[in-house]
Amino acid sequence: MNRIKQFYGTAVGKKFVVALSGIMMAGFLVMHMIGNLKAFAGEEKLDHYAAYLRDIGQDMFGHETVLWLARIGLLVAVLAHIITIVLLVKQNHKARPVKYHIQKSFAATFPARMMRVSGLLLLIFIVVHLAQFTFGSWLSTPFEEGKVYSNISQAFGAGWLAWFYIFMMFIVCLHLYHGLWSFFQTFGIDNPDRNKPLRALAIVVSLVLFIGFSSVPFAFATGMIGVAK
Ligand code: HEM
Repeated sequence: MNRIKQFYGTAVGKKFVVALSGIMMAGFLVMHMIGNLKAFAGEEKLDHYAAYLRDIGQDMFGHETVLWLARIGLLVAVLAHIITIVLLVKQNHKARPVKYHIQKSFAATFPARMMRVSGLLLLIFIVVHLAQFTFGSWLSTPFEEGKVYSNISQAFGAGWLAWFYIFMMFIVCLHLYHGLWSFFQTFGIDNPDRNKPLRALAIVVSLVLFIGFSSVPFAFATGMIGVAK
């Protein structure tokens, strides 16, 4: 236990926790995006998938137990990520109160500079998002627990909300792009020979997530799919 505490006390230890919690959240995002894409298969398939998530492990542990364990794991990852970043920034500031500047291209530094802003926006988005689609207590669009297809169809059918979501998916993916790149550095996967393909991988993963997530609100907003009004 003392060793873990000691390791967490170092900047390397904190970066490790940030990277590990970040990759857990990225894993959740990939699963969430794949789940959302079931909207294209129709109402029955999406709602059936939502019900399936609640039923996983039901015979052994009871209804929604596994889902709640996953939710708790995700919440722990989010909290560990945020708290550790705050501690890391404080620690770095103590170690080097005056910043030094290295000339880098705008493309290389923009996502990095945006990390705090995008992170904060993401946090606000998650609160709004859960209030809207999990608890059904936001924006007063019609909501019925478990009727996922109809809930998102009515919400995105309003138009502006879909565009807000698409903008937020851009923020999510900007954050993810730099987060993935930092993950490679924290785990020492980066190397001058590999940096180009690694950057390309981070771009491809972020783009796939952006397109996959955005396609759903886009399709509902433009009437490609949705419940009849
Ligand atoms: C276009 C993008 C998205 C759509 C349409 C969407 C839709 C939904 C819906 C309908 C639910 C409720 C599902 C259910 O009741 O079974 C949900 C839950 C959730 N979403 Fe999203 N989501 C999107 C993006 C995101 C992003 C980017 C994040 C994280 C940054 C996120 C985090 C969550 C979380 C944490 C839950 C709660 C899961 C649970 O506790 O069961 N979502 N989402």
